[in-house]
Amino acid sequence: MTLEAKAVLLTGASGGIGQALAQQLDQAGATLWLTGRNEAALKTLAAKLSRPAHIVIADLASNAGRQHLLENLGTQPLDAVVFAAGTNHFALLGDQNAEQLSQLINTNLLAPMQLTQSLLPRLSADARLLYIGSSLGAIGYPGFAAYGASKAGLRSFAQALRREWADSPRQVCHIAPRATQTEMNSTAMQQMNQQLKVKADSPQWVASQVLRQLQATQMHDQDLGYPEKLFIRINAVLPGVVDNAITSQLPVIKRYAKQNVSQALTTGEAL
Ligand SMILES: NC(=O)c1ccc[n+]([C@@H]2O[C@H](COP(=O)([O-])OP(=O)(O)OC[C@H]3O[C@@H](n4cnc5c(N)ncnc54)[C@H](OP(=O)(O)O)[C@@H]3O)[C@@H](O)[C@H]2O)c1
Repeated sequence: MTLEAKAVLLTGASGGIGQALAQQLDQAGATLWLTGRNEAALKTLAAKLSRPAHIVIADLASNAGRQHLLENLGTQPLDAVVFAAGTNHFALLGDQNAEQLSQLINTNLLAPMQLTQSLLPRLSADARLLYIGSSLGAIGYPGFAAYGASKAGLRSFAQALRREWADSPRQVCHIAPRATQTEMNSTAMQQMNQQLKVKADSPQWVASQVLRQLQATQMHDQDLGYPEKLFIRINAVLPGVVDNAITSQLPVIKRYAKQNVSQALTTGEAL
């Protein structure tokens, strides 16, 4: 599909992957609706684009925020929506409180589901919906139990919706990046990834994979990066093999998960 003059809504536009994607969508000629909570970041991003973009400041985890977005979308039907907004807390389950679990599920799973439902009357007849999940939504990983659960839910939601629309021209796909170099990864997460030799992709490359799907004749689900792509398949048929591989990493994971919690407390960041 050509993106020239197509109306595209991008959530999480102020984030690392979102900003890279907004620039690539702009280059491809799309008319953009950029949403996030960080107004300064969105304005700086919009100033870099070659054509005017619409900015809507909204907390998508709240009913009021989603309503505000809907009221500011204009009347043009949306040709594509990319759901990139998300949040992460790297901590062992015992170090997270109930509110943090709710925030993860709410932002990463319930909000995109509810937003999708509200957007149905606003979509063009052949609209494309693309959800950004995570490899951790297919491989349960210590320190990411709640994040992984939220992303596993999103994976399943996108798959079911694609099947629900199999008799229509609308398309749905899910892209699962592995670690990506954005602010979502705290210092402790980056140090753990380095020690465990986990590869991290650039947000520009991840954005290019999203763009490729949006432009394809037929969109397809994608798990990004080797060996994660392979582990996802092994995990589906032989989870015990992956259990053993992860158990050997457990002392390192636990150390950095604890470090992440104490660093967040010191800096005052939300976990
Ligand atoms: N970075 C990684 O390693 C990685 C790996 C796999 C998957 N992913 C997924 O890729 C997507 C993009 O992540 P990223 O790496 O670009 O992270 P990021 O730089 O932290 O950006 C996250 C984005 O989500 C938005 N967001 C968070 N909570 C929100 C809320 N309540 N309402 C509205 N917007 C909200 C943020 O907006 P504001 O800042 O304006 O609030 C920001 O635009 C996420 O879904 C993430 O789970 C990331």
